[in-house]
Amino acid sequence: MLWRLRPFVPDDLNGWRVLDVGCNAGFYGFEPARRGASVLGIDVDAHCLDQARWAAGQLGLHSKVEFRQMEVCVLARDSASFDMVGLRGVFYHLRYPMLALDLLAERTRRRLMFQTLTMPGDSVYGPVDNCPIEDRTPLLESGWARMAFIEHRLAEDPTNRWRPTTPGGGDASSERPAHRGAPRP
Ligand SMILES: C[S@@+](CC[C@H](N)C(=O)[O-])C[C@H]1O[C@@H](n2cnc3c(N)ncnc32)[C@H](O)[C@@H]1O
Repeated sequence: MLWRLRPFVPDDLNGWRVLDVGCNAGFYGFEPARRGASVLGIDVDAHCLDQARWAAGQLGLHSKVEFRQMEVCVLARDSASFDMVGLRGVFYHLRYPMLALDLLAERTRRRLMFQTLTMPGDSVYGPVDNCPIEDRTPLLESGWARMAFIEHRLAEDPTNRWRPTTPGGGDASSERPAHRGAPRP
């Protein structure tokens, strides 16, 4: 994954504020910190955060990274914004995934890095500007953008709630956040 991110991350991140959502043991926050960024990693799992703090100390980065136990949607109570935001391996765990994406897009000044497990297949239906209510058959076509809801467990994990299709069938990294909340443009 790291080599795929490289073209999107400047070598010098001095002055950048970085948010890593679902930071786990801190891995994706350490390289931005080495490049000069001030990093906030949030996660719901206290044990992971203990590991992240330990790793930051081992790497001599404790003054550049902060780890907080926090659910992503709690960001709604805070107007803080960030130059770069990472949401990797988290989207499909969230109870309100689009709310989280809207919140993060609103708080991203420069780059939003989004990665998720997806449904199998990479066909894309469209583009479609509109769909009449009388004929919704396109929604059943292969490639129509979908989110699969997982009612109980996937891979034995009850926090796996969703799997989206892959929009555009390609890499989800982009220079600027493409997702915007309602109203649609
Ligand atoms: C599959 S791991 C991904 C870790 C890391 N981002 C990566 O890409 O390697 C998912 C992480 O998201 C955290 N997480 C799950 N739901 C969350 C939520 N609602 N808010 C914040 N973190 C969450 C989990 O505790 C876990 O550490």
